[in-house]
Amino acid sequence: MATAIYPGSFDPITNGHIDIVRRARKLFSKLYVAVVANPHKSPLFTVEERVDITKAALAEAGINGLEVISYDGLLIECARDHAANAIVRGLRANSDFEYEFQMALTNRDLASEFESVFFMTAKKYSFLSSSIVKEVSMYGGDVSTFVPSSVEQALRRKLEKKAS
Ligand code: PNS
Repeated sequence: MATAIYPGSFDPITNGHIDIVRRARKLFSKLYVAVVANPHKSPLFTVEERVDITKAALAEAGINGLEVISYDGLLIECARDHAANAIVRGLRANSDFEYEFQMALTNRDLASEFESVFFMTAKKYSFLSSSIVKEVSMYGGDVSTFVPSSVEQALRRKLEKKAS
């Protein structure tokens, strides 16, 4: 029975991520959604907030039977600590490929015991990213079709706080 880890910044989680989680959940007997503490881009939400928002969003989407964790440092160390066999990532357009390819090969060099597994995005989410959601939200746009309502509320609260 395989265990997988789905890592990311999740700043914040979107419906595209949730679709990947739902599909990965069917293939793996155990799934960890792992929120990186220090992403290379500076996050809007703290790691604690991203974990809480991710848990609430998955609960709202009716997805259970998985764990949301956070990690600092190398992904492969987190995967080892949780006895994972596979690393799950989503693939959208061509533009994702180079980065994902580099990351998968680096992770394999560092730790050959993990297999990277890619899920093609659902067509309706192929344009969607956390950055786009933040930008639309920042300018007062409606993000209700991109994220669950708990995420929408968290974005509103955060942006109001930043503006005050
Ligand atoms: O959602 P993102 O920002 O595309 O996710 C990238 C992430 C967090 C999976 C990746 O940057 C990561 O695992 N960082 C932790 C440090 C690490 O292990 N780097 C080596 C992999 S190339």
